[in-house]
Amino acid sequence: MLSYQHSYHAGNPADLHKHIVLAELLALLTRKARGISYMETHAGRGRYDLSAPESVQTGEAAEGIEALTLPDCPLLHALETTRRHFGEAAYPGSPLIAQTLLRAQDQLHLMELHPAEFRALRQNLRAKNTAIHKRDGYEGVLALSPPKPRKGLVLVDPSYEVKTEYAQVADFTLKLVAKWPEATVMIWYPILPAGRHEELIEGMRIKYLRDEVSFDLKDGKGMTGSGLLLVNAPFGAEKCFIKALDLARPILKNPL
Ligand SMILES: C[S@@+](CC[C@H](N)C(=O)[O-])C[C@H]1O[C@@H](n2cnc3c(N)ncnc32)[C@H](O)[C@@H]1O
Repeated sequence: MLSYQHSYHAGNPADLHKHIVLAELLALLTRKARGISYMETHAGRGRYDLSAPESVQTGEAAEGIEALTLPDCPLLHALETTRRHFGEAAYPGSPLIAQTLLRAQDQLHLMELHPAEFRALRQNLRAKNTAIHKRDGYEGVLALSPPKPRKGLVLVDPSYEVKTEYAQVADFTLKLVAKWPEATVMIWYPILPAGRHEELIEGMRIKYLRDEVSFDLKDGKGMTGSGLLLVNAPFGAEKCFIKALDLARPILKNPL
C-alpha cells in the first residue's frame, strides 16, 4: 500500500524529533575523517514545500518547525542551507538533511518505492555520492549490506500504513545487524492510542536505546507522540536525545 504522502506531515513535531536526533547523530558519526555509509529504507521526496496545499491543509508544520526558533545546531545548518537555495518555505526531509551534513567521502543509498516520490527524490538529491533506488527499502538495504565504508547509519522510517509493519521493522533490524554488525540503526515509530508500537519493541531482541516524546497535535489523527530506537548507538548518542528535547521544548514534551 502506498497511499501515504509525507508532504502532509513534513516539519511536524514528530519530524522534528526524528530530524534533530538524526542531524546530531550524523555530526557524531562524522567527527573522524574516514567516510561512512548512510542508508534509508523509506526516503520520501527529500525536500518539502511548507506553502504547498498539502502542508497548509493539515497545519502540522505550523505546530512544528514554524513554531520553533532553532539555535545553532546541525539541523539548523541543514535548514538554513535548504532555505538559502529553495526559499523560506522549503523544509529538508531526512535524505537532504543527510546529504547536507555528509561529506564527499561518505556514501548515501536511499530507497523509495512510490513512483512520484521517487522521481522527486531523484531530482532533489542529485550528487556523486548519492544513489537513489526505486525498490522496497527492506529488501534493498539488506541486499546492499554490508556496504563500504562499513561504519554507518541506517534510518528506518516507514509510514506504518499496514499494521504488520511494526513487527516487520523488528524482524528487518535483526536481519540487518546479522549481515552488517557495525551498522547503527535508527528506527522511528508513531505513538498512537492503539499502542501497536509495542509489537515493534517486543520484537527487538537486541540491545537498543529508546527515546519517546509527546506533543498535542490539533488534528493529529490520534498521534500523541513520537518514538526512536537506536541500535549500536555510538558513544555520546544519549546526549542527542536530550538535546532534541532541549532544542524543541516549546513543541516537544517528555512523556514521562
Ligand atoms: C514517513 S515517509 C519518509 C519520510 C522521510 N524519511 C523524512 O523524514 O523526510 C515514508 C516513505 O516511504 C515510502 N515507502 C512506503 N513503503 C515503502 C517500501 N516498502 N520501500 C520503500 N519506500 C516505501 C512512502 O512512499 C513514503 O514516501
